[in-house]
Amino acid sequence: MQVVAFNGSPRKGGNTDHLLRHVLDELEDNSIKTEMIQVGGKSLHGCTACGKCYERLDKQCSIETDIVNHCISRMAEADGILIGSPTYFADVSPETKALIDRAGFVGMANGGLYAQKVGAAVIAVRRAGAIHAYDTINHFFGISNMFTVGSSYWNLGIGLDPGDVENDEEGLRTMRNLGANMAWILHKIHR
Ligand SMILES: Cc1cc2nc3c(=O)[nH]c(=O)nc-3n(C[C@H](O)[C@H](O)[C@H](O)COP(=O)(O)O)c2cc1C
Repeated sequence: MQVVAFNGSPRKGGNTDHLLRHVLDELEDNSIKTEMIQVGGKSLHGCTACGKCYERLDKQCSIETDIVNHCISRMAEADGILIGSPTYFADVSPETKALIDRAGFVGMANGGLYAQKVGAAVIAVRRAGAIHAYDTINHFFGISNMFTVGSSYWNLGIGLDPGDVENDEEGLRTMRNLGANMAWILHKIHR
């Protein structure tokens, strides 16, 4: 079994990265393979509403100049999907939004590429707006016939500068619990 994580923060090694790694560590401890794909800071185009995904039906987006098609392939292959984002003006980063819009449309056009997979959102935040960003990502899972995984608190960690979330004890506990819950449901589904 495999879980693929997407880091939507342009700060590689920043708080979103730290939080995702705690979830991935817990998954690895529970015998689940993991992979992290950096999307933040890369040049990701938004959906152009060309509708070609509904014509091509080849599980790919017509924009072939960025990493989104690679992300879509990895999502379709994985058993679980983690999408992490920093909070930007009370929502996700633009790269995260581009990913979910395009991966979401291609998934729907191709009969539900992510159906029956498990998904979870992870959010880094300084102070406010994390729940709105969390909801944005969960809306993608919710329209993709996926099972959304929760934790002992909403899946967020508090910090401003890179690595600050390591001081958010409850946030780290939330990530560990999220990883354990994701592993638990994956083992149940695939036993
Ligand atoms: C453009 C921008 C907008 C931000 N907007 C918010 C916000 O609305 N609420 C908040 O609490 N923090 C906000 N922040 C702070 C980041 O969410 C916070 O520093 C987070 O830990 C960054 O995660 P990262 O290290 O993974 O990039 C903003 C940061 C930037 C650069």
